[in-house]
Amino acid sequence: MIAMDVQTLFQPFSLKSLKLKNRIVMAPMTRSFSPNGIPTPDVAAYYGRRAGEVGLIVSEGTVIERPASSNDPDVPHFYGERALEGWRRVIDQVHAAGGAMAPQIWHMGVMRPHASGWKPPVPFEGPSGLVMPGERTGVEMSEADIAETVAAFGRAAGDAKRLGFDAVEIHGAHGYLIDQFLWAGLNKRSDGWGGATLPERSRFAVDVVKAVREAVGEDFVVILRLSQWKQQDFAVKLAKTPEDMEAWLTPLAEAGVDIFHCSQRRFWQPEFEGSDLNFAGWAKKLTGKATITVGSVGLSGEFIAAFQGESSHPSSLDELLRRFERGDFDLVAVGRAILSDPQWPTKIRENRSGQLRDFTREALATLS
Ligand SMILES: Cc1cc2nc3c(=O)[nH]c(=O)nc-3n(C[C@H](O)[C@H](O)[C@H](O)COP(=O)(O)O)c2cc1C
Repeated sequence: MIAMDVQTLFQPFSLKSLKLKNRIVMAPMTRSFSPNGIPTPDVAAYYGRRAGEVGLIVSEGTVIERPASSNDPDVPHFYGERALEGWRRVIDQVHAAGGAMAPQIWHMGVMRPHASGWKPPVPFEGPSGLVMPGERTGVEMSEADIAETVAAFGRAAGDAKRLGFDAVEIHGAHGYLIDQFLWAGLNKRSDGWGGATLPERSRFAVDVVKAVREAVGEDFVVILRLSQWKQQDFAVKLAKTPEDMEAWLTPLAEAGVDIFHCSQRRFWQPEFEGSDLNFAGWAKKLTGKATITVGSVGLSGEFIAAFQGESSHPSSLDELLRRFERGDFDLVAVGRAILSDPQWPTKIRENRSGQLRDFTREALATLS
């Protein structure tokens, strides 16, 4: 079932100060095991168990210092002495196991309240207060809110570097704050933060990238995660043509992105008609930057269905390897397969396909 040439995924990767032992990235996955936003020793052990084999771990989304950056009290903070001390424990454990790690810094933007009923102390904030086109559950951010949020992203990135992380990832995908600015359906602003075109609506993302770059210096790798799809609507496409995509990504690359992390639910789906290139393939072709692909690598079903209880079975890596060997992307992020099995990369490298596990929703219940 597993192709013979998986070894190509086990070549080292190096960019600026970032040195990775292989091309496999643990995808960012929210686990909600950090009470009051503080990562516990269990969280450090969870990442530590995966650090020996994964090239780069991207942490679960960890929220920046804004009163309504999160809708979940168990999602980790990336600010405040106690939370940052928890993260120091995480990165030390990852380094002790020979791994590399980037925190994924995050602001959720306008959300619906958490299932538990927990709410932040102030209303959710976003470009226009909308969580869905036509549904308002938050407030429109003022100029001062925007400036403070951009600065908070920069501070978090500076803290990542100071704590010893190897890179930083900005969460600009999946319909959260940065993506809410990008998406015309949620960004109805008529000031300089909105506009009819994607480049106009990218101004917030560009400013966040600039603030992050300024905080970490030139040699520290900055990753930006983007998606066309939104959790609110899988069918949305920000860029409908390669020209749209170039106009979207070029200013972000110029602002300081080193690696685009191109989130798809299924990596093999072509982005535009007339070519089989996926999002990561196009982003690399259009910007010349390194890219990460992601989405159902090694599994039969995609992750949103998994939340609803659908099990996924191990599947062939042949199509992934075909694209990788063609040079479409530099790194491959794997989510659920590594969540349920810290040994996944080793099993792939050693062609032990018979020992690969299914992914079932039960894996989300513990931090094993
Ligand atoms: C439990 C879970 C939590 C997730 N949380 C995040 C997150 O915090 N940030 C993010 O960018 N993506 C998140 N994702 C999406 C994953 O990073 C990844 O893109 C997705 O699971 C597809 O990869 P997979 O098919 O290999 O699981 C999450 C996925 C899962 C399964």
